Amino acid sequence: MSTYILMRMLESAPSRYDRGIRLLTLGRLNKAYDRLTSLIKQGQKVLDIGCGTGALTIRAALRGAEVKGIDINPQMLEIAKKRLNEANLAQNVKLCEMGVAELGSEEPESYDIVMSGLCFSELSEGEINYAVKEMKRILKSGGLLLIADEVVPKSRLKRVINCLVRLPLVAITYILTQTTTRAVRNLPEELRREGFTVESLRLSKMGNFMEMVAKKPEEMTK
Ligand SMILES: C[S@@+](CC[C@H](N)C(=O)[O-])C[C@H]1O[C@@H](n2cnc3c(N)ncnc32)[C@H](O)[C@@H]1O
Repeated sequence: MSTYILMRMLESAPSRYDRGIRLLTLGRLNKAYDRLTSLIKQGQKVLDIGCGTGALTIRAALRGAEVKGIDINPQMLEIAKKRLNEANLAQNVKLCEMGVAELGSEEPESYDIVMSGLCFSELSEGEINYAVKEMKRILKSGGLLLIADEVVPKSRLKRVINCLVRLPLVAITYILTQTTTRAVRNLPEELRREGFTVESLRLSKMGNFMEMVAKKPEEMTK
């Protein structure tokens, strides 16, 4: 799924983002999002980090959750707002122009679920470290973390193949947008170090896309 690098191009044209991402991922991303959000229950409080045009936010709202979607890109948020209005789901969702760096303003232990799709690969290592600590602080005991993102394959062969496929895409994307994504490294390990338990981890055949459910244990202190 190295095509995720091309997301950066789509993000610079948010009105084409949804159609483009469907084509690029051949529907596989939708399936991953459906599986992850099937864990959300009616009335739960959910935070969507890097909600973009609302792919996960809308699914969570459809399951009856009370959702807050945050993103730094106001144009992506504008499209999310339009989609939520069209689906008559706006009353259950709060959208905020807000970055990971501002997670400190969220109340401790205030969410049942924190979720994020394809956003961690756009964060720096420092931002990821900070996000992990903040997600632990703002999740309730027993709360779930649902993450889908591009990752660095564990096997050397897959890393080499992935790198060869990725390189031209990185170059094209950088030339057109002056930005890129970095496949995420060692997020499950980092979460375990912080005391989370990884409940399930599903990797794509190429090992470059992960779908993960992690849990903040009941007894875990802030
Ligand atoms: C590839 S899009 C994914 C959007 C959506 N989650 C989805 O799956 O369609 C990544 C999103 O992360 C947002 N983002 C990037 N860095 C961020 C940060 N530091 N804080 C919050 N959002 C961020 C981008 O603006 C973009 O909307």
